[in-house]
Amino acid sequence: MSLLVSGATLVATPRGRAALAGDLQRAVELLPDAVVRCDGGKVAFVGDKQEHDRRFADPDEVLDAAGGTVIPGFVDPHTHLPFAGTREDEFDRRLGGETYSQIAAAGGGIVSSVQATRKAPFDELLGLTLKRLDRQLLNGTTTTEAKSGYGLELESELKQLRVLREAARRQPVEIVPTAMPAHEVPPEWRHDPDGYVELVVGQIHPAIAGQKLAEGVDVFCERGVFSPHQTRRLLADARRYGWRIHLHADELSDLGGAKLAADLGAASASHLLHVSEDGIKALARRGVIGVVLPGVSFFLRERYAPVRMLIHAGVPLALATDCNPGSSHTESMSTVIALACLGAGLTTEEALVAVTLNAAAALGRADRIGSLEAGKQADLVVLDAPSPKHLAYHFGVNLVRHVIKAGKVVVRDGALHPH
Ligand code: NIG
Ligand code: FE
Repeated sequence: MSLLVSGATLVATPRGRAALAGDLQRAVELLPDAVVRCDGGKVAFVGDKQEHDRRFADPDEVLDAAGGTVIPGFVDPHTHLPFAGTREDEFDRRLGGETYSQIAAAGGGIVSSVQATRKAPFDELLGLTLKRLDRQLLNGTTTTEAKSGYGLELESELKQLRVLREAARRQPVEIVPTAMPAHEVPPEWRHDPDGYVELVVGQIHPAIAGQKLAEGVDVFCERGVFSPHQTRRLLADARRYGWRIHLHADELSDLGGAKLAADLGAASASHLLHVSEDGIKALARRGVIGVVLPGVSFFLRERYAPVRMLIHAGVPLALATDCNPGSSHTESMSTVIALACLGAGLTTEEALVAVTLNAAAALGRADRIGSLEAGKQADLVVLDAPSPKHLAYHFGVNLVRHVIKAGKVVVRDGALHPH
């Protein structure tokens, strides 16, 4: 099956098979009037239409980009997709002045989503997750990471990860599953957090690994959640299973999470609102990808991560939604791009690299996705706009017109295409 995307004003893409840092964070190649040819699920050619016509036979299908922009499909490298229940009442309380930490300390926060997720039958959780994946796809996301962490006990963690496995079979977005039994200390272990850490190490990690339900592991390293010492114990254990390591680091306070991520050779460190100068240097030295979540800063009315300092120090940045019911309730990567530019201070080019190639690198997939070049998987988005700058400039609307996943049109004219 071959597909030719033609009629675009611009094809805009980073290049390469590794994350881009420093000045290269904004290295977006702009190809006016270019076409993209997909063959057998992969990109076969990006460039001049005449050259295409000389070198290739007529395609099976032509998709008209109608003056829009073609970019790589968005990669969302940090979400908490499989959750049940929502927390709009807490949201209102925060608007009234209570803080996220105060609500969590009073028994709300993550724990209230844990109660709802534990209760939800498999099919209900699957339905909720599939709905979110549809919304992601309509908003241009073709690959998403997704974490457990609203189970916090063996069976419920396994249920969340099995939901992800089933969801991956039923719709086109590629799901990268991450085990996060250390997302919070569950209520029944509040008196003995170290005991819970040992349960994760002794029972939950081995069961998840035994059933091959995760590719990576994540820990929420934060005051009142898991200490740096406990985080080290959990992640050193996770290494035994060959999992990629991720950290929620320096979100609400500077606990040295970034430094720890670097010491442990993590693939990514997320949040970084309160990262120290030493933390930034450590990330840069080890090439850890900084995953910035501006939806959280906006949603919690908190500060933004110091993106300019991070880029200047040479930390490759990715952007993610953090889609979850408590600190960033959105599936939309273009919303995240707008907030990254208008709130945190990225340029539109830096943001585009952050949601494509660098996000792919955070998930160990930069060799396969994240840019439009021959040999990579044909995951692309056609925007109803003459340049990718419109993703931030024309904020608050969905400019995604068509989405192609592995060479197949899965969103056409803004609607899901049956698969
Ligand atoms: O990434 N920081 C911890 N976890 C999520 C929030 C989860 C929740 O509030 O339900 C985050 O911000
Ligand atoms: Fe998160």
